[in-house]
Amino acid sequence: MSARRKITVVGAGNVGATCAQVLATRDYADVVLVDIKEGLPQGKALDINQMGAVLGYEPNVTGSNGYEESAASEVVVITAGLPRSPGMSRDDLVSTNEKIVTDVTQKVIVQSPNAILIVVSNPLDAMCHVAKNISGWPKERVFGMAGILDTARFSTFISWETGTSVKDVQAMVLGGHGDQMVSVVSATTVGGIPLRKLVAEPQIKAMVERTAKGGGELVNLMGTSAWYAPGAAAAQMVDSIMLDEKRVLPCTAYLEGEYGIDGLYMGVPCKLGPKGIEQIIELDLSDEEQKAMQASSEAVREVVGVLST
Ligand code: NAI
Ligand code: 2OP
Repeated sequence: MSARRKITVVGAGNVGATCAQVLATRDYADVVLVDIKEGLPQGKALDINQMGAVLGYEPNVTGSNGYEESAASEVVVITAGLPRSPGMSRDDLVSTNEKIVTDVTQKVIVQSPNAILIVVSNPLDAMCHVAKNISGWPKERVFGMAGILDTARFSTFISWETGTSVKDVQAMVLGGHGDQMVSVVSATTVGGIPLRKLVAEPQIKAMVERTAKGGGELVNLMGTSAWYAPGAAAAQMVDSIMLDEKRVLPCTAYLEGEYGIDGLYMGVPCKLGPKGIEQIIELDLSDEEQKAMQASSEAVREVVGVLST
């Protein structure tokens, strides 16, 4: 039996399997992959284990249709749920995915009562409310992944526009994970130089818009939503928690007054460590950005209002 620490990923579809794969290559914990589809998590776990022989890591990935194997996980990533099809918004998924996230959360908390929950299923901000309400866990231990992905998209466009390495782009996309997400241009730099010194306003506007519609762009290309960047983004959050990295990453956190928003999950910069969200960092936003945060929060509140939990 392995003595390594344990992470569970629920949903062995595109995002969940990618997240499990990235975590397996990190090589510091065992990974349990859970899905309702028979054979799918077992098959993907076997495949990822066999990839270790090629890439040279020692994975221990277990696939299961139940939750016993997930017992005593330190972090559980929830990716179970329907993805978007062309023409669908993230919010169209709300009622189906509410049932799925409810079912998953109920089962996860029995086996891993001390875990940290990272929600990925859409509509993301609303699904974080479901996981928090069902688990009854403190906000520090229930939060969502969206901002790292949205920021990765913005950073990619900035890197292309400026012809510079994406490693030197420091960007920040906050707010709800919907078309009203907020690219914080005032806090975006390339090699420490403010973006506005390097790129003219119309090009910045175009990149901000492409970022906000970035999920839809991929759905239109592939007929389903993205998974490589989303899976890796969730794994980055897991790393920061499991390895006590104290990364400051945009996460979907329950706000109680921060950024002038109360009682709502929204994307904000958070310090992540073994306790989960260890600090919410409040940036000085421009008036326009603060207004955009408010507008985004209203859009999130509308979806949360549709929930039955
Ligand atoms: P997918 O369809 O490839 O995988 C979803 C998996 O969930 C399926 O294998 C399905 O069998 C499983 N599932 C359904 N009900 C379940 C249950 N009750 N228990 C356990 N497993 C269950 O979908 P994909 O592409 O992996 O996306 C997953 C979710 O993540 C979607 O809701 C999608 O919209 C969302 N997403 C969120 C992102 C974010 O930034 N927060 C980014 C990308 C996707
Ligand atoms: C994305 O942004 C659909 O939320 C998913 O790719």
